[in-house]
Amino acid sequence: MTRGVLVCIEGLDRTGKTTQTTSLLEKLDKDGVDATLIKFPERTTPIGRIINTYLTDTAFELSDQSAHLLFSANRWELAEKIRSLLEDGKTVVLDRYVYSGVAYSSAKGLPFDWCLSPDIGLPKPDIVLFMKFKQEENVTREGFGEERYEVAEFQQKVKTQFEKFQNEDNWRTIYVDNKSIEEVGEMIWTEYKVTASRRREALQYFSKL
Ligand code: TYD
Repeated sequence: MTRGVLVCIEGLDRTGKTTQTTSLLEKLDKDGVDATLIKFPERTTPIGRIINTYLTDTAFELSDQSAHLLFSANRWELAEKIRSLLEDGKTVVLDRYVYSGVAYSSAKGLPFDWCLSPDIGLPKPDIVLFMKFKQEENVTREGFGEERYEVAEFQQKVKTQFEKFQNEDNWRTIYVDNKSIEEVGEMIWTEYKVTASRRREALQYFSKL
């Protein structure tokens, strides 16, 4: 049996990632493809529950390193499930994955290679659809309060870290500026179809960049 396709949707906040993930799942379903969505962080597992507390309770403090390792451990909780779904011929759609893990933590100042190392050995997506605004609009726009500015500045750092993956074979940048939800959906669908129509090699795993 041919293994399933491992698709990953990545992007900064407010790029419409979740809307597009839902729309991709609907298209796959209509097309008769058996697909499973896995969203990271997966907040219902033992480690996911700790991550959820960390994300929602500002009184719950963790060092950046500890938080990073928990996000990675959360992916390892699901690694065997992902691998076996793929081996059973199912398509798996990931909403955030290793790329978010590395980009957010290295944007906080942790070394990029250190951030990637606990994820080495995880299943590697056949295709990563990185949703991106071309403009750096949020960072320089006037009228933002200090806090909003800082958030925008952090997002810019995250974007820079994400882009370190852009020369990888599986990376596709989807520019979302001035595009409707349907247009972005079509771009994602076209990229998915091209990948799905290719003969699939054995599943790849993350290694050093
Ligand atoms: P998510 O649940 O996707 O939030 P949203 O739906 O609001 O985008 O992710 C929560 C936050 O966790 C988000 O700011 C990105 C961050 N994150 C990491 O820092 N490391 C990771 O490994 C992952 C998967 C997410």
